Amino acid sequence: MQPSLYALSDVALAAIPSPALVVFAPLLERNLAAMLQIAGATDRLRPHCKTHKTREIIRLLLDRGVTRHKTATVREAAMCLEAGARDVVLAYQLVGPLLDQFAMLAAQYPDARLSALVDNERSAYQLSAAATAHGVTIGALVDLDTGLHRTGLPVGDAAAALYRRAAELPGLRPAGLHVYDAQNRTPDPTERCRAVRATIEPVLALAAKLERGGLPVPEILCGGSGTFPCYAELARSAAAAITFSPGTTVFWDHGYAQTLPDLNAHFTPAALLLSRVVSRTTPQHVTLDLGNKAIASDPPLGRRGLILGLEDAVTVLHNEEHWTVTSEHAGALQVGDPVLVIPTHICPNANLYPLIYVVDETGALVARWEVAARQRGLIL
Ligand SMILES: Cc1ncc(COP(=O)(O)O)c(C=O)c1O
Repeated sequence: MQPSLYALSDVALAAIPSPALVVFAPLLERNLAAMLQIAGATDRLRPHCKTHKTREIIRLLLDRGVTRHKTATVREAAMCLEAGARDVVLAYQLVGPLLDQFAMLAAQYPDARLSALVDNERSAYQLSAAATAHGVTIGALVDLDTGLHRTGLPVGDAAAALYRRAAELPGLRPAGLHVYDAQNRTPDPTERCRAVRATIEPVLALAAKLERGGLPVPEILCGGSGTFPCYAELARSAAAAITFSPGTTVFWDHGYAQTLPDLNAHFTPAALLLSRVVSRTTPQHVTLDLGNKAIASDPPLGRRGLILGLEDAVTVLHNEEHWTVTSEHAGALQVGDPVLVIPTHICPNANLYPLIYVVDETGALVARWEVAARQRGLIL
């Protein structure tokens, strides 16, 4: 990692209290450009906003022609709509009051296309009931399990029957099929794409069967960061409406840099945590103000982030407000010195911070963006 990528001016440092989430705008722009270049077509890309949860980044995507957006919570869906998006998939099975809240959003934005996932009849009925209560139509995507075993039906007759059932229910429209294949994380891109082809073949056959039966399948929404280049390649020649939904690519992180080396050539960590030294009792022993309330516990202790300048750091203690490490390089640091950390998994970290400090190529602080979708539901 090149620390020079991460310039922060003295004026910016004087204005940013730590711990803080800092986004390096040129790297974010570079990541967006790489996403679009790999996607090949903006209309196939449905980026997942759970990584950044900010209106400003939705607007950057809209400015680049990306009109489709993916979300995991009702609040994220609201945030996308507030930012101007009008085609939003909530890739989650709605339960409890969130059903009603989502239908309310659909009523509030009559010019928007909103969709959610279903993988069982009960959810389809409940989504239909919420939609009809609010006089709206919501798209239903049938969630398929292709090996992650988190949610979804196996690719087959039960999924086809649910698709048909949902299409018949009032207030619902058939919106397509959904495949999230995070189980496919093999580092070799050729192997990864081979696994994608094996995954998608039966899904395409299911879609074709549904269409032959008179049901439209307007979208087959697939994948995350690791597999979206494979789906992009397939989409170039497939007649079916394959779309793909990377999320982490917007910010990138240390975890994917290690596990997806092919994509690390295209993407650069753009969102880092700014911390400061609060204690340095020996030349090897240093404590940062980046406790476990300030850097996500996913992944577990000892692997939460790469401390730039202290790449050899070994965690001694991680408490609520303190992260104590030993490092051969700790002696170069003094109390108050800023330290940048590349999170291993950026998404749960962005969720911890109410604000993003945005800096430009000179290291100047140029904006503060609200992480507007940190709440899950609507604030009513
Ligand atoms: C349903 C779904 N789609 C897309 C993504 C984006 O994947 P990635 O973080 O690999 O970009 C996620 C990530 O959690 C997800 O759960």
